[in-house]
Amino acid sequence: MDRSLRIGVIGCGFFAQNHLHSWSDLAEKGAQLAAVCDVDAAKARAAGETFRVPYYSDAAKMLEAERLDVADIVTRRDTHRPLAEMALARGLATIVQKPFASTWEDCIAIVEAAHKANAWLAVHENFRFQAPMRAVRKVIDSGAIGTPSWARIRFRTGFDVYKTQPYFYDEEQLAIADVGIHMLDLSRFFLGEVEHISCETQKRNPRIRAEDTATMLLRHQSGAVSVVECTYESRRLPDHFPETLLVIEGPRGAISLEAGCSMTVTSDGATWTEDASSPLLSWTAYPWHVAQQGVIGACGHFLDSLQRGVPPETSGEDNLKTYALVDAAYRAASERRAVEPKRWNHGLANGGERP
Ligand SMILES: NC(=O)c1ccc[n+]([C@@H]2O[C@H](COP(=O)([O-])OP(=O)(O)OC[C@H]3O[C@@H](n4cnc5c(N)ncnc54)[C@H](O)[C@@H]3O)[C@@H](O)[C@H]2O)c1
Repeated sequence: MDRSLRIGVIGCGFFAQNHLHSWSDLAEKGAQLAAVCDVDAAKARAAGETFRVPYYSDAAKMLEAERLDVADIVTRRDTHRPLAEMALARGLATIVQKPFASTWEDCIAIVEAAHKANAWLAVHENFRFQAPMRAVRKVIDSGAIGTPSWARIRFRTGFDVYKTQPYFYDEEQLAIADVGIHMLDLSRFFLGEVEHISCETQKRNPRIRAEDTATMLLRHQSGAVSVVECTYESRRLPDHFPETLLVIEGPRGAISLEAGCSMTVTSDGATWTEDASSPLLSWTAYPWHVAQQGVIGACGHFLDSLQRGVPPETSGEDNLKTYALVDAAYRAASERRAVEPKRWNHGLANGGERP
């Protein structure tokens, strides 16, 4: 597709601001932020005026009135299915923020709607697009540590996430669905698909409804094992929010990503350290810039994939595998056993769960 793509953003809340800035910054590469929409008319108007585009308080009206190529859905997960189905029914390329939807069945329904419409579908899973994660992936691909056989991937913070996202207090699922999902996606990105997962959850903050801490243990199909951790209740200082820290070991060496996006690689007995950080952009701010840069990285990847007419790395089908890990982690915690993630097989009458 050799032309600029007209993008409509649905949902202009807290995190959508990063999408709006990213699409604006990607104008030279062919992204045209064409319209915005939020059921909260004041938020729609603020975004429309800031980015100088038409604004709507009804997504259906925006899709009807604007000749869009892409719908970028940045609402919370309970609205993802109806909004995605509406956009896909019009044949629009559709991007859905994580978590993909409220249930496994809703995620499958969105993927099937894309198949039916023959439309391009992505899930905005952005952590793997952060500069340090791309740097780690590059080292793995170089073969410097051999095939990864063990990893520890962790997101541990006490940063007040409830201030910017007060709805977190009442979520029925919190740490795994909100941030553990990124850690689980990274475990797939670095170590491949998962055979089974066990999980312990904790609610350490008495003021919230769901879990704020999860400790997960994964056996990957390759035989690799990973420990995947997330918490919003760490009191450790310094607090490295919103950085993901990790260690990945292989037969020839190891990769260690420490605070400040400092990556140390050991290969065949030699060790070196690289700066894997990204520069501040005009609209990014410390300490959020690590995460914000992942958004523009993801948006840039989606734009490029669409222009080349290929599926994105985090297609709907790909993201079902990450969502299945989230679902399996919750089941593992409540059933106190290791659980195999569900798998989706296109066309299976049982909705994809393995017999
Ligand atoms: N990838 C990440 O790193 C990351 C970080 C934060 C949030 N998120 C995700 O972004 C999504 C939004 O989270 P948030 O914190 O910005 O929430 P938010 O509540 O601040 O914003 C959501 C907005 O959607 C609007 N909205 C709801 N229904 C709508 C509809 N039918 N049509 C148009 N607008 C509608 C709301 O009025 C609200 O302004 C969630 O899925 C969340 O998990 C992702």
